Amino acid sequence: MALVNERARILANEEVGPNLYLMELAASHIAASIEPGQFVHMKVPSMEAHILRRPFSVYARDAAAGTLEVLYQSVGFGTDHMTRIEPERAEHLSGAELIGPVGRGWQPPANARRALLVGGGVGAAPLFMLCESLISAGVRTDVVLGAQTEAALTCRGRYEALLDEPPRCATDDGSFGREGFCTSLVAEALAEAAEAGEPYDYLAVCGPEPLMKIVAGMAAEAGVPCEVSMEKRMACGVGACLSCVVDTVDGKQRACVPCSMRGRWYGRWAIASTQRNLFGRAAGTPLQSLGQSSLGRTVRRTVRFAAELAWWRGVPAALFRLR
Ligand SMILES: Cc1cc2nc3c(=O)[nH]c(=O)nc-3n(C[C@H](O)[C@H](O)[C@H](O)COP(=O)(O)OP(=O)(O)OC[C@H]3O[C@@H](n4cnc5c(N)ncnc54)[C@H](O)[C@@H]3O)c2cc1C
Ligand code: FES
Repeated sequence: MALVNERARILANEEVGPNLYLMELAASHIAASIEPGQFVHMKVPSMEAHILRRPFSVYARDAAAGTLEVLYQSVGFGTDHMTRIEPERAEHLSGAELIGPVGRGWQPPANARRALLVGGGVGAAPLFMLCESLISAGVRTDVVLGAQTEAALTCRGRYEALLDEPPRCATDDGSFGREGFCTSLVAEALAEAAEAGEPYDYLAVCGPEPLMKIVAGMAAEAGVPCEVSMEKRMACGVGACLSCVVDTVDGKQRACVPCSMRGRWYGRWAIASTQRNLFGRAAGTPLQSLGQSSLGRTVRRTVRFAAELAWWRGVPAALFRLR
């Protein structure tokens, strides 16, 4: 559906975790058409002096009621301002202006049978609608969540209500689930699925960039197609200003608008050419053909490490294209 600029009444705005807030908005047009992984570009109420909108992924929507939910973290001027919005206060009654739906939603392969979703921090929210749609399409779906503390695992309850198996969780301080980063849980899930002869055929990850890089590398190693969600700073949100451009092996691409090209693996990191979701496929690369022998694994790791190092040092991408 085409983009709309919709005035959205703010129905609720509550603190739901440490520095984490849930905002509910009435936006019937966007709620009717938004797809999992897409976002809205919000003009924050009472911040008229600030031209730039703030992008937020949609956590949940109720198309019948015409409502959306956004889970946000207060990190700066705009989000701090949002935490003080009180829906009933006169100056907030006019609501927020939203452009949406923006960006490309998650694109799981049409024939996916088993999916693994990995959410770090507020990155758990943009995966929730994807989880709902995978389950309703009959895809066996597992979820790994990571956060700093138990209180910051704000999406856990909704995932538990949705899934047959509760999500695997990790917290930095060990207050819930595994202590440490959730990457160890991802490695376990991939290994267990492969050992059981029911490997994942789709992995989606959203969260801090280092987490996405590591998980994308694990997916490559396991030969699982993987999508990651890029959250670049954005000005226009609709493809006009070029503020969200990312370097990809297919050249510079805008992160905010849909385009038709698919991404490629570059080193351990999926650098791709799709708007906000970068898509990488590991299977079929020359490195994969080295097989699972220890020599093959060592060669793969060495080449990927060199590629990653080269990327950080600015060596031309073409030198390290893996396919
Ligand atoms: C497509 C997309 C979806 C997003 N979805 C969510 C979401 O669901 N929940 C959520 O909490 N946040 C989300 N973000 C990040 C959110 O847009 C920023 O945190 C917000 O714009 C910061 O505004 P500010 O005025 O508070 O920060 P500023 O005062 O402008 O900056 C303060 C700090 O925030 C960082 N920051 C600013 N903009 C971004 C950005 N776009 N991405 C990452 N860091 C940023 C800056 O580097 C700086 O350190 C998303 C970003 C994008 C691009
Ligand atoms: S934000 Fe303007 S082109 Fe992407």
